Parts: sequence; C-alpha cells; structure tokens
Amino acid sequence: MKIAVYPGSFDPITYGHIDIIDRASRLFDNVIVAVLNNPSKAPLFDTEERMDMIRNATSELRNVEVDSFSGLLIDYVDQKGANTVLKGLRAVSDFEYELQMALMNRKLNRNVETIFMMTSSRYSFLSSSLVKEVARLGGCVKELVPDYVSEKLLEKNK
Ligand code: PNS
Repeated sequence: MKIAVYPGSFDPITYGHIDIIDRASRLFDNVIVAVLNNPSKAPLFDTEERMDMIRNATSELRNVEVDSFSGLLIDYVDQKGANTVLKGLRAVSDFEYELQMALMNRKLNRNVETIFMMTSSRYSFLSSSLVKEVARLGGCVKELVPDYVSEKLLEKNK
C-alpha cells in the first residue's frame, strides 16, 4: 500500500494545493492531507476550520483522507504507516527551504522519502498568505480558491 502524507498549514487551502492533491491521488493508494496544528503560528483559520475546507474541496477523491498533526512530521508519518512525504514546489524560491526540510526529515528517519511535485504553472504564483491578503483588502479570490473557501474568507473579513 503506497501512502503519501501531504503536510502543510493550509490556512486556507488554495487551488494550488488542490491541484497537487488531485494529481497525487492518481499516483498513490492513499493520500493523507495533514494539517499542522500549531497555535503558536496564529493561523487565520483554526485546525477544524482548515480541515473542513480541505474535506469540502476533496470530497470527490475517494482515496484522500484529511487529518491533523502536531509535533514532528516524521513521527506522524511513521505512526500512519506511510513512507512518503509529498510536497509541492512552486518556484526555485521554494527549493532551498524544502531541501533543508527534506534532508532534516531524512536524517530523522531514513526510511521516509520526500517526493516533490511541481505545481501547475497556472498556480505557481499562488500562496495562502497572498490569498489572505487579497481577501482582507477586498480583492477577488474567486480564481484562487474554491467558492466554499472564498465564502469563509469573506466571513472572517466581515
Ligand atoms: O504549509 P507550510 O506552512 O509550508 O508547511 C510546513 C510544514 C507543516 C510541512 C512544516 O512546518 C512541518 O513539517 N512542521 C512539523 C514540525 C516538524 O516536523 N519540523 C521539522 C521539519 S524538518
């Protein structure tokens, strides 16, 4: 059974994340989208809200599960019986930090492999932080996130 863990903050999920999840669901038997539960990061959406938006966006993908974790990613991956961490790469600017994390994770557990998927070019400019900023300043995020997420952003910015 090939199980991949796709970790992140997902504050909130964007079309860029969904593109990766959709493509990964065709490569792995199971994809676990794992939301980092880290209150010290002061996310806009709490863990439950973030998981709810991911569930809504991936409801048609039968082999995708949504979960949350705290502590070390590599321990969570082990606990789930997975051996792959899946990450999306948007641009060269992502590479340095992602390489550092992949190498640290390998140091912590050499049986877990990090696999990178290139984000589709139409989403290469997209990030949760920019989506939040655009929404906060009253811009249109319709082409960046699903309608369900854009409604939640509107509610937060009321
Ligand atoms: O969406 P993000 O914020 O870029 O995701 C970062 C994430 C959650 C993948 C990373 O911060 C992480 O793995 N955190 C868990 C703590 C951990 O394992 N730290 C050591 C990483 S080498």
